[in-house]
Amino acid sequence: MLLGPPGAGKGTQAAVVAKKMDLAHISSGNIFRENIDNRTELGMRAQGYIDSGQLVPDDLTIDMIRERISKPDCRQGAILDGFPRTVAQAEALDNLLLEMNGKVECVPFINVPKDVLIERLSGRWLCETEEHVYHLKFNPPLKDGICDVDGSSLHQRHDDVRETVEKRIREYNQKTAPLIKYYRKAGKLLEIDGKKEIDQVTRDILNKLGAHLSESGRIS
Ligand code: AP5
Repeated sequence: MLLGPPGAGKGTQAAVVAKKMDLAHISSGNIFRENIDNRTELGMRAQGYIDSGQLVPDDLTIDMIRERISKPDCRQGAILDGFPRTVAQAEALDNLLLEMNGKVECVPFINVPKDVLIERLSGRWLCETEEHVYHLKFNPPLKDGICDVDGSSLHQRHDDVRETVEKRIREYNQKTAPLIKYYRKAGKLLEIDGKKEIDQVTRDILNKLGAHLSESGRIS
């Protein structure tokens, strides 16, 4: 799972790493936004929290992830992006994976200071499915307003306005940052300098992941 504040680059990196490792990419934020677009009951219950920059309650989020990681495409593992985000979610995930004979293998923590996060979120644009993420300055599309991969129109997220971004960062500091200690104590935290360029961050994650997996005997 990838850990980091809003705008650290979790979605950007998770998409590349999942593809390279042939694993499912599970983004809790994307699942919530799909449910909001499809006006499901989960979407309606989550929308108010997301629009105001607060975390969605743990029970709703844990049930949603339980259902998603039980799907066949997760049998070989998955990259979690945006979950867990509280200690209660992390404990629920440990229990859930234990039932499935799995575990959290390691946790790349993408560390980025607040001023950089704000610049990144204010320039972020996404394709229709939100799978492909761009930045006007740091990672622009080849053609203005159009996704390079699927040709759909790019849009900005409602919760990327300044006031909501500030709220999301406060929520992160209060509720999610304690996970740094949780996973460091478990010997699973891989510290990544997220200020570097996108490709360099990807290389750092893959190198540290490779070293961790070979140390733990998962790959030779
Ligand atoms: P979610 O969608 O998960 O948002 P987030 O955590 O706030 O993270 P972001 O998607 O904003 O940022 P990111 O780290 O993925 O950065 P990105 O790669 O896009 O959650 C949204 C909401 O859903 C939450 O606020 C909450 O309400 C709810 N929610 C979700 N999960 C929940 C949970 N588990 N529990 C409770 N509630 C939950 O990059 C950002 C920009 O920077 C892009 O433009 C990108 O191109 C650019 N960029 C990326 N890396 C670099 C780099 N190295 N250099 C320069 N630019 C870069």
